[in-house]
Amino acid sequence: MPAAPPIVLIAAMSADRVIGAGDGMPWDVPEEYQQFRELTRDQTIVMGRKSYEIFGPDLTSRHTLVVTHREQVDGPGVACSSLESALEQAAALGCTVFVAGGAAIYQQALPRAAEMMLSTIHGEFSGDAYFPEFDPAEWRIVDRCVERRFTFTHYRRREL
Ligand SMILES: NC(=O)c1ccc[n+]([C@@H]2O[C@H](COP(=O)([O-])OP(=O)(O)OC[C@H]3O[C@@H](n4cnc5c(N)ncnc54)[C@H](OP(=O)(O)O)[C@@H]3O)[C@@H](O)[C@H]2O)c1
Repeated sequence: MPAAPPIVLIAAMSADRVIGAGDGMPWDVPEEYQQFRELTRDQTIVMGRKSYEIFGPDLTSRHTLVVTHREQVDGPGVACSSLESALEQAAALGCTVFVAGGAAIYQQALPRAAEMMLSTIHGEFSGDAYFPEFDPAEWRIVDRCVERRFTFTHYRRREL
């Protein structure tokens, strides 16, 4: 069995970790969304079924593994019965593995993540889905880029 590849969490959030409101995100920052599409282009995305139903048509990934209790999903996504099952399948595909939400999947994947690529959208937003809390002391910032409407931060987990 191939070794488990490092997992990269990728998300856009508000300063207080809001990631979603209803069936979408409570902001409209197309340049950030386009950056997400470029970073994940031709790679593997692991996503929860609800997020796949929202964002599936826009994805540029080569492989999309959808965590769900359902037998199958519409479109090119492949249904996986658990996060573990999705990550096992991802290991065989040879691409960078991005975990792209939503809240339920970030929560489960955070302890296993080696990197995070987080865009903080400037401004205040309310919503009903949140990125999990994490301890900044466990993460090293390897890159930060301040754009007009968002700040992108690339974190790598510190070695123990
Ligand atoms: N800002 C961002 O970067 C970003 C990115 C992605 C999503 N979002 C937001 O996140 C929100 C959606 O998040 P969410 O937490 O409600 O949904 P989600 O994580 O996208 O999907 C939840 C679904 O995943 C499946 N699932 C979760 N854990 C599972 C497990 N252990 N085994 C099998 N299936 C499992 C279940 O699907 P079934 O019901 O089919 O069994 C569950 O209903 C939306 O507001 C969306 O806009 C934001």
